[in-house]
Amino acid sequence: MASRVAVGIAGTGICAAPRVMTNHDFEKLVDTSDEWIVQRTGIRERRFVAPEQATSDLCIAAGRQALENSGLRAEELDLVVVGTLTPDYLLPACATLVQSGLGATRAGAFDVNAACTGFLTALHTGEAFIAAGRARNVLVLGAESLSRFLDMSDRASCILFGDGAGAAVLRPHSETGRGEILRSTLGADGSGYDLIHMRGGGAKIPPTAESLAKGEHFIRLRGREVFRFAVTKMADLILEMVEGFDPADVCVVVPHQVNARIIEAAIERVGWSMDRVFVNIDKYGNTSAATVPMALHEAIEQGRLQPGKLVVFVAFGAGLTWGGTLIRW
Ligand code: UT7
Repeated sequence: MASRVAVGIAGTGICAAPRVMTNHDFEKLVDTSDEWIVQRTGIRERRFVAPEQATSDLCIAAGRQALENSGLRAEELDLVVVGTLTPDYLLPACATLVQSGLGATRAGAFDVNAACTGFLTALHTGEAFIAAGRARNVLVLGAESLSRFLDMSDRASCILFGDGAGAAVLRPHSETGRGEILRSTLGADGSGYDLIHMRGGGAKIPPTAESLAKGEHFIRLRGREVFRFAVTKMADLILEMVEGFDPADVCVVVPHQVNARIIEAAIERVGWSMDRVFVNIDKYGNTSAATVPMALHEAIEQGRLQPGKLVVFVAFGAGLTWGGTLIRW
């Protein structure tokens, strides 16, 4: 077998949607309170896209910043992969809009939908292309406009989600000199497909006046059941990622920002302390595929990633799907 090319993260970017929605804004819409939301989720506010925006607009802004931070021009990209469950259109892929919006004239483009595991799936895919010698410069993104699919009368779901995008440029590690992807894993259990889902709008339940009236295109979830699964899976993934390495070398864990209580319970299960974990759910809520790259970018900006130390990404979501990545910064 030909030797694999080691892959590194050259640069990252972020785009938070512009409309700030505080918990107090939701008090006016449903029977909830700022206190309940903060205590049960850790969320204080989230961002929603503006009426004229959609997911590709957030991706283009985040992608542009990631390219700038990488010192790479859009024309040098070989591939654009967007992890999203809320593309602008069902057809064509969001990634094609990003490719043309950035001027990535030489790049192929496609979306992956693994819900909240979307960014890690895009990362895994981009890494595999470079490792196999099929591409050298890949832009991977996680991005959502979840606000377009929220039932604003369902307090169990509408308070949880936000819109945003995060991006990372992947290149051979010989070029980046940092951020080497050491290990990554993806998993799924489709028997749990109805724990978090949007039933309507696809081929099974096409959009009709009846399906719209029943709100079948909205995101629904069985939160309590997801909670239990999430804590165990997140803890197991962290342990799997660091197996064979010295856990003391981990400078930061960047988890899917699903719920501050889920993250805390998982970290407690691992036996670590929260000071090694990056959490920004208070500002953005759960942006699904965008949480990990948005948190990664902010963690880098805040100097939380130390050269030579290990970084762990973990995510899980609808499907069910899950993923983990270990990086040496
Ligand atoms: O990224 C993957 C997608 N995300 C998820 O799947 C979310 C995972 N789950 C969670 O984050 C948590 O389960 C939630 C935040 C969704 C709910 O927290 P919980 O501690 O599991 O609450 P619960 O569902 O057990 O509900 C407790 C109570 C219920 O009232 P009763 O039955 O005890 O009277 C709910 O009706 O809280 C009530 N409740 C609310 N109260 C005020 C549910 N939503 C709200 C709300 N405001 N927004």
